[in-house]
Amino acid sequence: MKLLLATKNKHKVEEMRALLSDLAQVEVVSAADFPGVEEPEETGETFEDNARLKARYYAEVTGLTALADDSGLVVDALDGRPGVMSSRYGADDAARIARLLEELRDTHDAQRTARFECAMVLVRPGAGGDAAATRGTLEGSIAREARGTNGFGYDPVFHLPARGLRLAELSSDEKNAVSHRGNALREMVKALREMVG
Ligand code: IMP
Repeated sequence: MKLLLATKNKHKVEEMRALLSDLAQVEVVSAADFPGVEEPEETGETFEDNARLKARYYAEVTGLTALADDSGLVVDALDGRPGVMSSRYGADDAARIARLLEELRDTHDAQRTARFECAMVLVRPGAGGDAAATRGTLEGSIAREARGTNGFGYDPVFHLPARGLRLAELSSDEKNAVSHRGNALREMVKALREMVG
C-alpha cells in the first residue's frame, strides 16, 4: 500500500515516517513528492474539518490513500483561541507568542490552562467517507515567559506541569512520546495495521 502524507512540512514528514516505519507493507510518500500540486486552503472551522479537507484533496489529486493532520493550541481563558488560527495568529512564531502572552497578561496562573490538539484523517481515493479518523491531545498551561530552544511554534511557552518543563526543553523523541501529534499518529498506526493486515 502506498500512503501519501498530505503535508510538505519536512519536520512533520520525518516525525510521521518514524512512527510508520514498523508498517512494512506501507510505502510512504509525501506531498513534497508532488511539487506541481498546490496545497489546499485550510478553510475548516475545526482541526478535523481541515484534516479531512486536506486528505480528500490529496487522495483525489494523486489517486493515493492520503493521511492528513491539522493541529493547534487551544487556550481555555481565550475561549479556545488561537485554535484553527494558530499558524496565522501573528507574522512569525515570536509575534504569535507575544500576542498570546499579551492576551493572557491579566490571567492568573491557575486559569492559564491550555492544550495542543491534533486531528488526523485517512482517506482512500474514490471512497466517500473517512477510512479512519483519530485525535490526540497534550495538556499543559501557558507560562509567562519563553524558555527552551527545541521544537517549534508555541513550544517555548507551553508548560508541562507533570515535568516542570516547557515543551521546548524536551528532546524531539521525548516530545513525540507525549505530544498531541504523536498520540493521534499512534492511534492511526493501529488503524492502518488493521487495514493492511
Ligand atoms: P498545522 O497543523 O501545521 O496547521 O499547525 C498549526 C499551528 O499550530 C502551527 O503553525 C503552530 O503554531 C501550532 N502548533 C501545532 N503543533 C504544535 C506543536 O507541537 N508545538 C508548537 N506549536 C504547534
